[in-house]
Amino acid sequence: MTGNDTAINKIKEQVRKNLNGGVSIVIIGASGDLAKKKTFPALFKLYQQKFFPEKTQIIGYARTEMDDEEYHKRVTMSIDTEKEEGVKDFLKICHYVSGQYDEDDSFKKLNDFVNDVEKKNGVKDDQKNRIFYLAVPAQVYVPVSERCKKFVYQDGAYNALIVEKPFGKDSDTYKQFAKDIYGTWDRNEVYLIDHYLGKELLKNMMNLRFANTFFEPMWNSKYIDNVQITLKEPFGCEGRGGYFDEYGAIRDVIQNHLLQVFNLIAMDRPKDASPEAVAEEKTKLLNAVKPIKLEDTLLGQYTRNGDKPAYQEDDTVEDGSLTSTFATVVLWIDNERWSNVPFIIKSGKAMDNYKCEARIQFKKLPGDLFKDTPRNELVINIEPDEAVYLKLNSKHPGYSDDNLVTDLDLTYKERYDNLKIPKAYEALIVDVMRGRHANFVGDDELQASWRVFTPLLHQIEKEKIKPEPYPHGTRGPEKLDEFVKKYGVERLSDEDYEWPSKDLDG
Ligand code: BG6
Repeated sequence: MTGNDTAINKIKEQVRKNLNGGVSIVIIGASGDLAKKKTFPALFKLYQQKFFPEKTQIIGYARTEMDDEEYHKRVTMSIDTEKEEGVKDFLKICHYVSGQYDEDDSFKKLNDFVNDVEKKNGVKDDQKNRIFYLAVPAQVYVPVSERCKKFVYQDGAYNALIVEKPFGKDSDTYKQFAKDIYGTWDRNEVYLIDHYLGKELLKNMMNLRFANTFFEPMWNSKYIDNVQITLKEPFGCEGRGGYFDEYGAIRDVIQNHLLQVFNLIAMDRPKDASPEAVAEEKTKLLNAVKPIKLEDTLLGQYTRNGDKPAYQEDDTVEDGSLTSTFATVVLWIDNERWSNVPFIIKSGKAMDNYKCEARIQFKKLPGDLFKDTPRNELVINIEPDEAVYLKLNSKHPGYSDDNLVTDLDLTYKERYDNLKIPKAYEALIVDVMRGRHANFVGDDELQASWRVFTPLLHQIEKEKIKPEPYPHGTRGPEKLDEFVKKYGVERLSDEDYEWPSKDLDG
């Protein structure tokens, strides 16, 4: 048995123990985009790999009225039904009932429905565990979570509430959100998802940093010049304008997903690997970050490029919207390890390609023996292909004594056969089933992160800061290169460096 199989068996055993052979997973907002694109495909994969206990029911709930056939069509919309095995059997455990988000009677009906399905499925009293997955707009988190607790919760069983970001829009709204959620639900039962924490390379960050001898001594301002954390996505906000226009790039991915990458790179070594110790270090770090200044920010919004529409052309976007679809913010940490090292966090929609990476750029060598030796870089590729590579200087092979930039390269799909990496949502749902909080977001950490972003977000709104235009499908606003240069970022020219291999005669 491989290490992975052993780990899978251990996890299945933990799920079995925690759920005692039965669970009802209730997806609130089952007709929406998130459920269709992420939740159902993840649940299907877990079903296929037999992670669920024997008596499992998946109950969809939303306002739209539809019959089982229509519902099953939606469940399988993001599943390749031609290629995947077991879809028909999976659909047998998927049921649907409609109802409102703010009416007690609807939730009483939902509870009757769940009881009914459980009864038909032969679920015993001690197997009536319930997991509530909120895939609804943030405005209804509170009425929905309250009613789930009041009408569908099972006393004496395992209950869990999964909530997706956004968790508030600033410090005050977050505090209200936390008060409402934790006012009704026990903290131990609440799982706040930041799905980036389910991504393989984020989970690897602790191993990379704390299981290698050579990184830790260099992991500070003496050796590191700057850190760049980037998410570029080639698609625009079409169809999501209603949500996006209210939130913008900083709230959509920087204050949460990319900040988690930042946390894992910049935090100090926790006293042990427990979720509590990690959360403590993340919070300590965030409390040392200075609130972001407007002058350390570059905002952008995409414009039409040929047949690719501008952000503002979307019907769901307000006319004259000042929402940023691109943002770069620079974080400064006021502690001994990171003093004067800029962390440049960048994200954009409608960009030239898709990638999410962290790039740690080391300082130039003091007393360079060779001329203009390029800097070393450690690159952690989070999406689309998992990889870690260290750019280093080496002699040009052959008669030449010149320096050549090359790399120590761990590209997962080339290094590992039979690579099976669970998608973020799969890994996180399994964690909820086994009652494991390690990869979820904590309250203290969220309060600390909003402290860093709130003054900036308020200033942008109050002063109606206009984002810089950039054409759909490009690298972002024209000012970008000049902006990042201010923080010491150096880009290697394509001539110097080609990846994965370089033609030495080329
Ligand atoms: C979501 C954001 O939380 O994360 C989206 O709302 C973004 O705008 C997405 O596209 C990125 O996640 P992934 O896993 O698709 O890279």
